[in-house]
Order: sequence, then structure tokens, then C-alpha cells
Amino acid sequence: MSQKNLICFILWLLIQLLVEINCQMVPYKPKQREGHTATLIDNKLYILGGAYTGNGNADVEKDFFYLDVSASFNTQNLSWNDLSNINVVPLHYDAASVKGGASNNSLFLFGGSNDTVMDSLVYIFNPQDESWKIPEITGNTPVRKSELTGIIDHKGIMYLWGGYDEVDVNINDVNDMLILDTINLVWGKGSLFGVPSIREYYGCTLLSDNNIIYMGGYQFDQGQELTLNQVYLYDTINDNWSTETTSGEVPSGRDSFSTVLGLDGQRVIIFGGYATKDLTPEDSLYELNLINFEWRIPKIFGQIPEVRMNHKANVIGKYMVISFGFGYDQSTESDILLLDISNVDEYIWTNEFFPLLPSIPPTSSSPPLNTSPSNKSSPSISSIPSSATSPTTTVVGAIIGTLFGAALLSFGGFYLYKSKRRDDNNQVGRNIDTHGQEIIQPTSNEYITINEPIRIPASAINKNYNHAQELIPIANNERLTLHGLQQEIQDLKQIILQNGKQSTSVMENNN
Ligand SMILES: *[C@@H]1O[C@H](CO)[C@@H](O)[C@H](O)[C@H]1NC(C)=O
Ligand SMILES: *[C@@H]1O[C@H](CO)[C@@H](O)[C@H](O)[C@H]1NC(C)=O
Ligand SMILES: *[C@@H]1O[C@H](CO)[C@@H](O)[C@H](O)[C@H]1NC(C)=O
Ligand SMILES: *[C@@H]1O[C@H](CO)[C@@H](O)[C@H](O)[C@H]1NC(C)=O
Ligand SMILES: *[C@@H]1O[C@H](CO)[C@@H](O)[C@H](O)[C@H]1NC(C)=O
Repeated sequence: MSQKNLICFILWLLIQLLVEINCQMVPYKPKQREGHTATLIDNKLYILGGAYTGNGNADVEKDFFYLDVSASFNTQNLSWNDLSNINVVPLHYDAASVKGGASNNSLFLFGGSNDTVMDSLVYIFNPQDESWKIPEITGNTPVRKSELTGIIDHKGIMYLWGGYDEVDVNINDVNDMLILDTINLVWGKGSLFGVPSIREYYGCTLLSDNNIIYMGGYQFDQGQELTLNQVYLYDTINDNWSTETTSGEVPSGRDSFSTVLGLDGQRVIIFGGYATKDLTPEDSLYELNLINFEWRIPKIFGQIPEVRMNHKANVIGKYMVISFGFGYDQSTESDILLLDISNVDEYIWTNEFFPLLPSIPPTSSSPPLNTSPSNKSSPSISSIPSSATSPTTTVVGAIIGTLFGAALLSFGGFYLYKSKRRDDNNQVGRNIDTHGQEIIQPTSNEYITINEPIRIPASAINKNYNHAQELIPIANNERLTLHGLQQEIQDLKQIILQNGKQSTSVMENNN
């Protein structure tokens, strides 16, 4: 009798333990926002600032958080990491940010609205020690601007063109080219000869030839969205401007859209934004060919999302990663949208993110550091991405199993049932769009089918080398198959294989 009680008590303790582990994973859910910044540093997408005008009043956020993009995730179940307690930057929105600095891994934040007084024009965040600082910058300190985009070149120079002058009440939009050397911390100015007309909320991105392309936007004084039948190129090497006239399916004049460079460096993709009349989802995605400056509507697959404005977009791996913005309902659509842009013949809206995988070395060159007594290399816990399954609970399950054998059979069954449910839920999130319609998703084979080799910089491959090593063990991890993950593993294998081929051909092209 007392033995039975003891077992019951220990079981109860273990259940408490499990519950506690699950409770520790209560996800951080940020509020919807627009006019934030999204900065990618070391596989972390940092989100800072922004405001939400959806409910009538500007509900400005001081929170600061990031999304880990080193492992795969599903946009229906994002796990944000909250850094708000270390944030020193006052409430702000419509600021500009880049990754730069002497070690090329600091977040530089410039300007923004000044509804509340900000004590500095520039803030720097160092992800290494997670600290913020206010830098001392030499040269002529410029005025505060907002509603602009920051671009950094390959020499660590940040370009802050145009935007809205926050200080002089007689001036609204401007078109000056402000330059910040993020390595030596010096202000400068760029050429105004041939500069585009004044504007805010324009689109821009750095091209492979060191030009920055600028387009569209809003002209405050005229109260109108600017045309996209002309685009402007700022040559960062020679400090001069030129203009190109575009043709084809020219998008209507718009502002507050996002702009990224395609993976092959030959096209610019724009998404969302605002036009005089609201944009339709079919009118929200365009692509500009950089060879002949012809616009086209790219072929797309998957559920087209709501049109967003004043969001941000970063290219991460093979995806255009869109974050937050105004115009969607946070209860039905994820804060993150993923457009797989690896196949230029068909872009794919998807919920699944897989990190960029490099080529796998043909022969395993480096043996595992801690070889276990048994020959069979068992992957360490930390090498299993948490998105695949919860390693902690697996371990707890294993301990329970060995300790309580038969008594645990029913309990273990319950746990397996739970994780099966979880996988089923994942499946639902993947195949049902937000309006409850069934959509046909391609298999992951199709996701990564590419018709022409993509030129991915060798540096990117090297940088991501570790992920392949982290992911390979999963494919051989038999334990995971117990949790109904066969399909996922199959997918991962396909991706690893495909990426292996892809990267190999890239390297051949480069040599
Ligand atoms: C969401 O992700 C977390 C970890 O990232 C995981 O523990 C949880 O089971 C996932 N939930 C669903 C419904 O997939
Ligand atoms: C900083 O890193 C980026 C890649 O994230 C690279 O393109 C750029 O050239 C680097 N800048 C410097 C100054 O090394
Ligand atoms: C904020 O804007 C007001 C005008 O709206 C200006 O007087 C003030 O100097 C600005 N503050 C900063 C810190 O730029
Ligand atoms: C920009 O400067 C370079 C070097 O001086 C020159 O070759 C090029 O023609 C200039 N472009 C324009 C549009 O002036
Ligand atoms: C370890 O691996 C080697 C080579 O694969 C094999 O010959 C040997 O029998 C293995 N030892 C054990 C204990 O499995």
C-alpha cells in the first residue's frame, strides 16, 4: 500500500516536472506594428520599435525581440525571443536600421519619429554582449529624419536618403543624401546632382553593382504616391545619380512597400504598399528586371497574403521574409510571411522556413568531438533544432521509461498521443490557409526545384556551414521517427541532398 503511494507520489512529481517544462515554453507574442525596423545579424532577425494605428491611436511599442532563423520554423507557430528588458531606446517608429560597425555585426538605428524625445540620433546595439550604446559621431550632425530606409554598402557606409524632416516645421519631405561611416563613426553627405525629387516611404535596395536603387514613395506636400515608371540609381562608388525609365507591367504609384534584391542579383522584388486606392492582393507583388528595367508580375504559388504596408522585408536564405506591417489581421495571419524566391519562374508563399544549407562534405572530415563509448554516434541534445520536437520532453520521457517500466506504459502512451496531436496541428497549419480553404502545397521537392543555378556568395555558404552539421544527425536519428516525423525527415534529407547539389554547382561556377 505504502509502496503504491510512493509510486503515485513520484509519478505526480514527474507530471509536475513535465507541466513545468511545458509552461516554460509559453511563447512571447508581440503586438502588431508598422514602421518598425527588422535587422538580420548572425541568424537573428531583430525587431525594434514601430507603432500601430489600426485602433485609431498610435500605440507605440518599446519592446525589442528577435526571431532565430538558424533553424527551421513554421510561421503559424513563431517562437520570438524577448529582449525588451535590455532595451534603452525610447518609443519611436519609422526609423532606419542596418547591420554594420567595425566588426560588421552591430545594429545601427538612425532617426525615427520624435513623439517622445529621443536622447540620441543614433543608437548602436551589440548582440555579442546584448548592450545598447549611444555613439559619439564626428562631422556635422544632421537633423532627425524619419520615414526613410537605411542601406549599408560593403565598406560599412550607411546611406540615409530622403525621408521626413522631424525638426524644421517648415520642411516636410527632403531628398538629401546623408552618409554615416559606421566603422569610423563620421557623418558625411552625398551628391545632390541628379537626385530624385523629395519623398518619404520609398522603396530601395543595394544592387550587386554597388548602386542603390530608389523608387516610388510618397510626396507629402502634394499628397500623392509617386510613379514607378522611373527608378533612380545612386552609385555608391562614384557618388553620382542616374535615372532609368521602366517599361512592362509598371505597378501603379505606391509607397510603404518593401523592396529586395533577387537571389541572382538580376531582379528587384517589391511587395505590398499603399496606393491612392487600396491595393488588391493580385496587385501587390512585382518584379523589376535589372537588365532591361522591365516590370512584370511574377508567377506565384500558394496562398496570397493580405496586402501589407509599412512592413519590412529581409532576404534570409532563399526567402523574402516579410515582418509585421499594417493591413492584415493578426488573429488570422502570421506576423511573418515567407516568399520562397529561389525559383525565378515561380515564387512560393509558404509557412515553412528551412535555413540555407550548404554542401555536405563528401567524406566526413571531422570526427565528433566527444565520441561515446558506443561507436554509433549519438547526436547531442543541443544539436537537435527545437522546432523538430521538444528534446527536453524526449529526455524526460526516456528517464521515466527506464525508471518505471510498466507503470509508465499508460503515461508514455499519453505523452505520445500528445506529441502526435502536436504534429497533426502542425499539419493543419501547413495545409489550411487562414480562411479555412484547403490549399495544395507542393512537396518539399518542388520547393527547392530550381531551373538555373543560383549564385549564392561563397561567404554565405561558409557562414552557414555549421547548420548542415547540426541538421545531418536528425536524418539518422531513429528516436525522432517514433514521434511521427518520418515525413519531416524525408523532407530534410531531400533538402540536404538538393542543397548539396546546388551549392556544389555554385562553387563550380565560381571557380
Ligand atoms: C510550437 O513551437 C514550439 C517550440 O518552438 C513547440 O514546443 C510547440 O510544440 C509548437 N506548437 C505547435 C502547435 O506546433
Ligand atoms: C558585412 O557583412 C555583409 C554580409 O552580411 C557583407 O555583405 C558586407 O560586405 C560586410 N561588410 C564589411 C564592411 O565587411
Ligand atoms: C522633435 O520635433 C520638434 C518639432 O516637432 C523639434 O522642435 C524638436 O527639436 C525635435 N526633437 C529632436 C530630438 O529632434
Ligand atoms: C558616375 O561617375 C563615374 C566615374 O566618374 C562615371 O564613369 C559615370 O559616367 C558617372 N555616371 C553618371 C550618371 O554621371
Ligand atoms: C566501430 O566502428 C568500426 C568501423 O566502422 C567497426 O569496425 C567496429 O566494430 C565498431 N565497434 C563497435 C564497438 O561497434
